[in-house]
Amino acid sequence: MTTDQKNLIKATVPVLKENGVLLTDHFYKRMFKHNPELKNVFNMGNQQNKRQQTALAMAILAYAEHIENPAVLMPAIDGIGQKHMSLDIRPEHYLIVGKHLLASISEVLGEAATPQILDAWEVAYNQLAQIMSGHEHKLYSKQVQKQGGWSGWKPFIVKEKIVESSEITSFHLYPTDNGPVADFIPGQYISVRLFIPELNLLQPRQYSISSAPNGEYYRISVKKEVSVNVNPDGIISNRLHDFVNTSDIIEVSAPAGSFTLNTENDHPVVFISGGVGQTPLISMLENLIKSGSKKPKTWIHGCRDKNVHAFKDVIEYWAGEKQEVKKHIFYNQIDEQARSENLYKGWVDLNLLDPEVLSPDAEYYICGPGAFITKHYKELVGRGIKKEAIHFEEFGPQTLQL
Ligand SMILES: Cc1cc2nc3c(=O)[nH]c(=O)nc-3n(C[C@H](O)[C@H](O)[C@H](O)COP(=O)(O)OP(=O)(O)OC[C@H]3O[C@@H](n4cnc5c(N)ncnc54)[C@H](O)[C@@H]3O)c2cc1C
Ligand code: HEM
Repeated sequence: MTTDQKNLIKATVPVLKENGVLLTDHFYKRMFKHNPELKNVFNMGNQQNKRQQTALAMAILAYAEHIENPAVLMPAIDGIGQKHMSLDIRPEHYLIVGKHLLASISEVLGEAATPQILDAWEVAYNQLAQIMSGHEHKLYSKQVQKQGGWSGWKPFIVKEKIVESSEITSFHLYPTDNGPVADFIPGQYISVRLFIPELNLLQPRQYSISSAPNGEYYRISVKKEVSVNVNPDGIISNRLHDFVNTSDIIEVSAPAGSFTLNTENDHPVVFISGGVGQTPLISMLENLIKSGSKKPKTWIHGCRDKNVHAFKDVIEYWAGEKQEVKKHIFYNQIDEQARSENLYKGWVDLNLLDPEVLSPDAEYYICGPGAFITKHYKELVGRGIKKEAIHFEEFGPQTLQL
């Protein structure tokens, strides 16, 4: 890109800050109107709640801000690339997105989008598309080279369906070809794709693998998202709970994601989860225990009450008989007779724990709703924990800026 073009891109930063979501909202509406087949590729729930529009707007803004040195965006580009890989996004898709994004810039900005600005954004978009699809090509290549690896969608059979709590059910997924299941790093997720007759669409959703790697199957553990106030029931989670049973076959994409366990040191590890956010952390913890890791391990988990508390027994076993992990459980509602040590009433509150639990050398893994992550991240940073030692994942398009 020329210096003039870079300056023009930087000049659009204030407008992107102000109108980024307006732009991406217009872009998605335009793209789905002209390329309705892409509704099968996107999570249409994330369009309704605008989380995907927000994530894309933030990515475009970050790119404009770092146009002089886009290399600093590589960690973010990797995270997006992992999600793209999990949804089988290919280089040819970039042409469609580019066409609608550039047209949207012109349509939303009106006369402010001069021919020079549009030219600069065309060059900038093509540069970004090349960086991203090049990176994704490498991710796909690595994926297919693994034993049992694949790219795109592959049929898996549900061999077990296990109720873990009143709202969380696990599915054990085996490849239908009886081959080995590709390895993954604890913390990674797969995408599952189901056909939804009411929408006449395929719909993908991500689910963290909730078991440690075992070479045979992936376990996912899904919370049934039931209607709250005017919001409808969640489409895929309800379908999985109510209609997908043992012997059924579903399409699955290969493990992806960059929220992964660091096993390269012996530092203590502290897992902090809210509700179903425990799934990637259970995989990490099980992996540490199975591999005989000497890392001191702490499990901090909060949920509404014991009825919705999934994986309660296995955590109790690892904490009690096995003495592998120290646990601290928070319930909003406590049955007083069921009170036991390290069971607290209320939302997860790190201030209620002995300060020694939150070791300054530990690595922290947080997963739960956005507000949950923000609260605990800030609390830990306030206690002097280094930001690099705090890892977190949102169950949806990543929109937190911490
Ligand atoms: C990396 C990653 C890992 C994940 N891991 C897990 C996991 O291990 N376990 C798990 O259970 N989930 C996990 N999720 C979340 C999962 O992907 C789905 O988002 C979740 O199951 C809900 O999907 P759904 O189709 O049931 O709901 P959707 O139909 O997508 O709806 C989502 C929510 O939006 C509300 N909603 C829908 N339409 C509207 C509307 N028009 N207005 C207002 N509100 C609306 C619904 O009530 C629902 O609460 C993960 C997500 C990611 C990104
Ligand atoms: C320069 C171009 C692109 C940028 C900057 C971009 C950016 C993003 C971002 C920020 C996310 C959210 C990732 C997360 O938080 O997990 C995302 C997800 C996604 N992207 Fe892209 N993307 C681009 C191109 C494409 C293309 C070409 C396609 C294919 C049509 C595509 C399809 C998707 C899909 C399907 C998702 C998941 C959406 C969801 O879960 O709601 N993207 N992208």
